[in-house]
Amino acid sequence: MTTVLITGGAGFIGSNLVRFLRRERPDWTLVNLDQLTYAGNAESLADLRDDPKHVFSHGDISEPAHVDWLLSKHPVDAILNLAAESHVDRSILRPSVFIETNVGGTQVLLESARNAGVKRFVQVSTDEVYGSLGATGKFSESSPLRPSSPYSASKAAADLLVQAYGHTFGMDVVITRCSNNYGPYQFPEKLIPLMIANAIEGKKLPVYGDGMQVRDWIHVEDHCRALLAALEKGRAGEVYNIGSDNEWANMQIVARLLEILGKGRELIEHVKDRPGHDRRYAIDAAKARSELGWAPRVPFSEGLLRTVEWYVGNRGWWERVRTGEYRTYYERNYGGR
Ligand code: NAD
Ligand code: DAU
Repeated sequence: MTTVLITGGAGFIGSNLVRFLRRERPDWTLVNLDQLTYAGNAESLADLRDDPKHVFSHGDISEPAHVDWLLSKHPVDAILNLAAESHVDRSILRPSVFIETNVGGTQVLLESARNAGVKRFVQVSTDEVYGSLGATGKFSESSPLRPSSPYSASKAAADLLVQAYGHTFGMDVVITRCSNNYGPYQFPEKLIPLMIANAIEGKKLPVYGDGMQVRDWIHVEDHCRALLAALEKGRAGEVYNIGSDNEWANMQIVARLLEILGKGRELIEHVKDRPGHDRRYAIDAAKARSELGWAPRVPFSEGLLRTVEWYVGNRGWWERVRTGEYRTYYERNYGGR
């Protein structure tokens, strides 16, 4: 019997991970700690509301008293830390909360985990800690950390803290660094869901600068499978890059989405570029493939089509996000729980 604490389990990747682990490891108990910030949506887990093996705890990872209490209440074997402020553009507008949650929150979790004797700590990090690439080459685990944005700098700082806790206190820690995820339940502020939602509503699609920035896309389910593999098979103290060898320029993604939705390119609008915009990301995931026995399974053409279909079929979900109505869902459904 295993009990795993997932932080940020009401977010995009977290809610997919909770559902994935319920399916793949049905005897595990999943404790889900989430503050339900603007990015957290309890509605994304509505189907697990009465599931006795999914325990939701509304709280902040930067609150030591809450985290200590949670770890004293549940016999947590491992922590998967996904809770974070995750949007680069917001980190440019308001960096402080990124430091509080991504750096401070990670330190609180590490300290509580150490005191509670949690056996393994998996830090869910990002390829953005490596900065930007030129036209060729890929990030490997030994690439230098050169974060560009307040978001990526906060994630790099958290990675260093995780490694320091492993080195200094002998904690069993593993870090994963994944490329851009896409799939269902992604907040419509990120490129793919924003463009789908805008196109469906006949709104303009705001492309930053020339739109020739390159991202390496991976389906969220493949990321979830990699996280499970890192948790179960990763070597203590190691970093694992996760990626799908799937590079596309933003303009290519936008054009393909319009094509799938049967909309015209006149909806595309080039807008002011993101300050400090990273030009290209590409991940070398050879280590995860060989050591974890992991490989991505979802072909991009199929995953993108499925994702568009999900947003078309779940219009209520993203419309409630856009109107802000989703924020009352937790109270309406869970009352004082
Ligand atoms: P998200 O913004 O969709 O979800 C973040 C979740 O964390 C939300 O549910 C939010 O309520 C919760 N949260 C925020 N601050 C909190 C706090 N102080 N205490 C408790 N909960 C809090 O993010 P996502 O895209 O699902 O990303 C999840 C993790 O994966 C992040 O750590 C991110 O850095 C990392 N990551 C994301 C991607 C990607 O492409 N989305 C790629 C690689 C790594
Ligand atoms: O690489 C992993 C990272 O991917 C994660 O760590 C982050 O949490 C996640 O948000 C994502 O960061 P990006 O900045 O790459 O994702 P975003 O969806 O914000 O942007 C993808 C690309 O699209 C980027 O080059 C900026 C561009 N873009 C984005 C938006 C929101 C636009 O051109 N227009 C837009 O409106």
